[in-house]
Amino acid sequence: MTPLPGEKPANIWVVGVLGGPCDDPPLLTISPRIGMYSYKQMTEVGQFVVNIPTPQMVREMEYCGTHTGAEVDKWQTCGFTPIAGKVVDVPLIAECPVNFECVIERQLQFTRSDGTPGEHELMIGRVVQVHAHERCLVNGELQWDLVDAIYRSRPRSWRTMGPVIGFDERKTKLSKPQEAAELIARRVETFEGLADVIREMPYPTQIRR
Ligand SMILES: Cc1cc2nc3c(=O)[nH]c(=O)nc-3n(C[C@H](O)[C@H](O)[C@H](O)COP(=O)(O)O)c2cc1C
Repeated sequence: MTPLPGEKPANIWVVGVLGGPCDDPPLLTISPRIGMYSYKQMTEVGQFVVNIPTPQMVREMEYCGTHTGAEVDKWQTCGFTPIAGKVVDVPLIAECPVNFECVIERQLQFTRSDGTPGEHELMIGRVVQVHAHERCLVNGELQWDLVDAIYRSRPRSWRTMGPVIGFDERKTKLSKPQEAAELIARRVETFEGLADVIREMPYPTQIRR
């Protein structure tokens, strides 16, 4: 486990809604409950890392989202490997194929209609480094089809992203790497033992500095 400088080991929690409001500057938004264990850590350090799990990690995801780091060691229980970030002091989860290193840019708190403080805040992180396992890259570009991220759904369920159904070419011409069928086939191949593959192969691949 990679400890934070002079502090307790970094903790893991689950984010239900991840926003990407802006590409330049590259921003990600999360909404942590004010006061929870991870919230205190994040605000003290001023940094966080977003790790994207694969569908095979759904049980670990559930565990990290239903237990508190104040009482359990989620790294140990889930068998996760911490690796040092390139820019931030918070460790990345090596088993997750995509990781975003973020520095907290802004924190917004809100008031309920009855005037009391809202339970969650909107935390905006500036992405300072992106990592993606090479198994999820095609021609150097990240293919979400090969990650198949987990989505929070309702009522109280999780889904996966599913295959690509079209391409947005409004800004620049895309080099469509392959047809959807080929991506789906590759995703199946990627899923087989992805966590083992990630452990064995050099990691992470840098896709942006
Ligand atoms: C699918 C899922 C999504 C979640 N989304 C959020 C969220 O957006 N914000 C939040 O504060 N907690 C969310 N949680 C709950 C936290 O992950 C949970 O309270 C966690 O145990 C907190 O860990 P900690 O006490 O170690 O900080 C979510 C849990 C799950 C399972």
